[in-house]
Amino acid sequence: MKPKCFLTRKLPQPAMDRFSLTFDLSVNPDDRVLTKDEIVSGVRDTDILACLLTDTIDADIMDAGKNLKGISNYAVGYNNIDVVAATARKLPVCNTPGVLTDTTADMAWALIFSVARRVVESDTYTRAGKFKGWGPLHFLGGDISGAVLGIIGAGRIGTAIAKRAAGFNMTILYTDFQPNLSLEETTGAKFVNQKELLKTADFVSLHVPLNKETRHLISAPELEMMKSTAYLINTARGPIVDEIALIKALNTNVIAGAGLDVYELEPELTPGLAKCTNAVLTPHIASASVQTRTKMGLLCVENAIAMYEGRKPKHIVNPEVLGKI
Ligand code: DGY
Repeated sequence: MKPKCFLTRKLPQPAMDRFSLTFDLSVNPDDRVLTKDEIVSGVRDTDILACLLTDTIDADIMDAGKNLKGISNYAVGYNNIDVVAATARKLPVCNTPGVLTDTTADMAWALIFSVARRVVESDTYTRAGKFKGWGPLHFLGGDISGAVLGIIGAGRIGTAIAKRAAGFNMTILYTDFQPNLSLEETTGAKFVNQKELLKTADFVSLHVPLNKETRHLISAPELEMMKSTAYLINTARGPIVDEIALIKALNTNVIAGAGLDVYELEPELTPGLAKCTNAVLTPHIASASVQTRTKMGLLCVENAIAMYEGRKPKHIVNPEVLGKI
């Protein structure tokens, strides 16, 4: 008999095929986020829970899964899971880092270009038939080449973004809780404190995980430190930015613009944000390429199988439970 896996939403087909090969798979048939009750009921009789960043996995859900042997998250970020509760229950929690690094870095760059060169605004203008001829003052934006790129959080994705800056002759600043020497060697990036980064950078790109320390890391005082010509880019997690403060900063030209892929109240937008024409807003799609979402799915299955078999999964976020699974 195959082990059981409950998957909260359909993934790309190659991952579905791999799940079905190993597991007796039960999957949400609809393309929507399940309610807590639905997850509780799905997890009741399962060995593995495979879930998404949109599923809040708390102690109630873990306790409902009497046979549960592990939780496999289809995302690198795992702020949706109460890892402390999982660890207390000796439940391994896995995520999908690495495979989405380049795709996410590409998207951060797409937002940098879109917001600085006003791509979305000018596309809307052109489609509306408003383009009546070239104008010396039309849609002036900010230069990317030669600008200062500031990276907050110098892990895999922050590093990949810095590497891409080489082609644009940029000065790269970064901050983190400790220096990243390999980032410095490969890109010439300079380690600075957050205040200096915010005051100096033309583009501030966020790449920290969401936790108690990083919630509202960027709020009114930080936005005020930024140059009025600077842009904020967020492809990490929405609550890292205080969106009310950001809307105010965008509307009063405290900063020049923002490129956001994630939102504080996701999937809702804080009232007023959609009206900010100096913001480019995308619906949490930084990892959304066919290839990357497939690789994330295959890694999610690989982690699930390892947890079921009691082997060390490729990516476990609470390795302290190992030896107890
Ligand atoms: C993640 O993996 O955490 C991204 O936000 C979605 O791919």
